[in-house]
Amino acid sequence: MNALQTLIEQAERDFAQAADSASLENAKARYLGKSGLITAEMKALAALAADEKRVRGAEINAAKQAIERALQQRRDGIEQAELQAQLQAQAIDVTLPGRVADQGGLHPLTRSWMRMEQIFRSMGFDVTDGPEIEDDWTNFTALNSPQDHPARSMQDTFYVDARDPNGQSLLLRTHTSPMQVRYARAHVQRHADAATMPPIKVIAPGRTYRVDSDATHSPMFHQFEGLWIDRDVSMADLKGTFTLFLKAFFERDDILVRFRPSYFPFTEPSAEIDMMFESGPLKGRWLELAGSGQVHPTVIRNFGLDPEQFIGFAFGSGLDRITMLRYGISDLRLFYENDLRFLQQFA
Ligand code: PHE
Repeated sequence: MNALQTLIEQAERDFAQAADSASLENAKARYLGKSGLITAEMKALAALAADEKRVRGAEINAAKQAIERALQQRRDGIEQAELQAQLQAQAIDVTLPGRVADQGGLHPLTRSWMRMEQIFRSMGFDVTDGPEIEDDWTNFTALNSPQDHPARSMQDTFYVDARDPNGQSLLLRTHTSPMQVRYARAHVQRHADAATMPPIKVIAPGRTYRVDSDATHSPMFHQFEGLWIDRDVSMADLKGTFTLFLKAFFERDDILVRFRPSYFPFTEPSAEIDMMFESGPLKGRWLELAGSGQVHPTVIRNFGLDPEQFIGFAFGSGLDRITMLRYGISDLRLFYENDLRFLQQFA
């Protein structure tokens, strides 16, 4: 093998070993640089005779070109490798899920609440609100449960360690019924002339509090109160109104409603309202939904109205209860634990 061929192979090995452009340029200098091996061969030509010079010159040139080709090839290779490395370093995994903000959703009880209001509004009911910290008179006395009346113990509650400006004791309201009193009294004041007073027809939803806690009772729960007072409102209207509401709320017609005699100080007669689905998983079971009755004359009087002229009904129903029935929820406490696995099912 001649020396030039050896030189070419040596250059190819050197270039192949250069890992980056800097070491490749160093390797190049060893062959093609000013004091490189090929350059040295060129210089040696000067000592040769003219025709030897031509032959030898052509050989050296061919070797030089071979080395330059090898160099260019390696340059391309290194450039490719460096580009690949750079791309890899800057790689973006386009298959990763994007970082989007979590979407909120309405709580199932809020959904029921809104739905319930919408249905009653469609039947001509107004919607009102009232304080959760209530005074003793409005929560009990005005509703015909005077101090020391045994009926008060039906609703064991939380008293607040303070009194209102009139010296009355304050408590977390035990039911939504005090809103009947607040709304009716304001209504009567707005319409001073009883002869032209429009009917009182209102829904009052809200949080209520009792000392009670198990799978179907929570110390804080929700009720919606209904009140309809006019000159000729009867228990038949109560049954019609509540039945219509249930059919609209549950979106089905196969619902039976029954009134079971009961007792509340603020209604006479009083009834529990029970409901039964005629099909589905709860078929054939009476479910207790509300307390109700014809508003007691004493309460009508406390509204500021004459019970000889005005009559009507009231009911108080559990919002949590009808929400559990609508969605098939078996434990009331799920509503209040803020477990996203539960809540996300309603979003
Ligand atoms: N306030 C009663 C309760 O919470 C329900 C009720 C409301 C009963 C209105 C009659 C009339 O148990």
